[in-house]
Amino acid sequence: MALPYLLTAALIATPVPVLSAEPAFDVIPAPVSAVATGADFHLDRTTVIQTRTPAVGSLLAADLREATGLTIPVTPSAAPAGRKISLKITGGLGDGYRIAVDRSAVEIKASTPEGLFDGTQTLLQLRDGRAIAGGTIADRPRFTYRGSHLDLARHFHAPDEVKKYIDEIRRLKINYLHLHLSDDQGWRIQIDGWPRLTEIGGAEGTGVDGVGGGFLTKAQYTDLVDYAAARFVTIVPEIDMPGHVNAAQVAYPELTCDGVAPPPRTDTAVGYSSLCISSETTYRFVEDVIRELAAITPGPYIHIGGDEAHATPPADYVRFQDRVIPLVAKYGKTAYGWNEIAQSTAAYSSVAQYWGTTNNNPVLAGAVAHGMRVVMSPANKAYLDMKYDRNTRLGLTWAGLIEVRTAYDWDPGTHLTGVPESSVLGVEAALWSETLRSIDDIEFMAFPRLAAIAELGWSPAATHDWESFRTRLAAYGPQWTARGVDFYRSPQVSW
Ligand code: ACM
Repeated sequence: MALPYLLTAALIATPVPVLSAEPAFDVIPAPVSAVATGADFHLDRTTVIQTRTPAVGSLLAADLREATGLTIPVTPSAAPAGRKISLKITGGLGDGYRIAVDRSAVEIKASTPEGLFDGTQTLLQLRDGRAIAGGTIADRPRFTYRGSHLDLARHFHAPDEVKKYIDEIRRLKINYLHLHLSDDQGWRIQIDGWPRLTEIGGAEGTGVDGVGGGFLTKAQYTDLVDYAAARFVTIVPEIDMPGHVNAAQVAYPELTCDGVAPPPRTDTAVGYSSLCISSETTYRFVEDVIRELAAITPGPYIHIGGDEAHATPPADYVRFQDRVIPLVAKYGKTAYGWNEIAQSTAAYSSVAQYWGTTNNNPVLAGAVAHGMRVVMSPANKAYLDMKYDRNTRLGLTWAGLIEVRTAYDWDPGTHLTGVPESSVLGVEAALWSETLRSIDDIEFMAFPRLAAIAELGWSPAATHDWESFRTRLAAYGPQWTARGVDFYRSPQVSW
């Protein structure tokens, strides 16, 4: 049942809608409301994109050219003979957008360039050949944060692979990409003050099982940040601490309490390493890293990890977070960490990423009562490195098997006791790379489940409907095929 299609029909411009309980279009994530009219628009050699937001217009033109072979000019003024696609900034639409398609014109309106871009991503899904389905759509996001996460530490993924992934996730209205840049095995981001982090921690052989290696120079990171930003994706860099630091300690033994370098590790054990909490060297290191990272990160968040610090005594863990979280604010950023950071009162003004497998976390709920905000990544729903079923060639099983329906059937707004929707910033799908080496591996685990998480992040809860989603997924499959995306053909979907 899709109640909002009825409720919001009155908001939509003429023609008078034919009300339907089914979504009018096969769009993922489901829009707030949509009405099909059958009056399709046909792209041809006379079509122009008219806009005063050329950055968005050019991206749309590039996508349409790839999909149809047509070169569609982007112009600020209407071409006399052309049948136009207009992209307009207007007031009053918040972070949403409107689309109207009829035989003579396509119009997308939004109040921000990002809203306009979101509208173009919907428009691309209305295309079949050179026809764009006629009708109207009114849409806006349920949550402001819709994230995807990649683990560059366990296996490095090169910038071009990450860019290809950004192209794909943005089509689903994912607007944050969290990069896990350090762990026990490797260190993947250049830090000028501590060069051995990448000289040693980014060397060949630092991937899991000794396969692969590499790191992002600051120039490569900046290029990636810019590429993402042009597509309205914000990069969230993560340096994991005080645990998951073996690679840093191999490079700099003074980060251990006894000053002795541990052996390099390329196995997948967790919870054995810790920074030395009582050492001032630790805080000089942490502050240098946060300062350098903040300087090249335009986005609002620095993710400081904080998970699985089993080798850090609990009181030391809190002492560490009490001191480190304010350092993030000192460099103008909001601290963001795995939900364990909620143990520190300093974390109340920061963001927790919930990765547990239960519906109850009293420490986190307590912090939320003091104002902490939460991104929902429950591992038994949103960890895309879990196998789909027992036969999945890649992935792990510790949080369970996650078929597409399992990833889809939960509600971020009610998932966790004591964490009301008003405290939920959004959702994020995590994709750890212990078993993943190539972009094909990433795509196979991410898709189609990332589409489920994207819909949970964007679409109103009232549109949530598994039968509708699986139908729309089946319609989306040929797009992935056409773009060479190696997705999992789940038996739950009639591809
Ligand atoms: C985690 O999966 N250790 C955050």
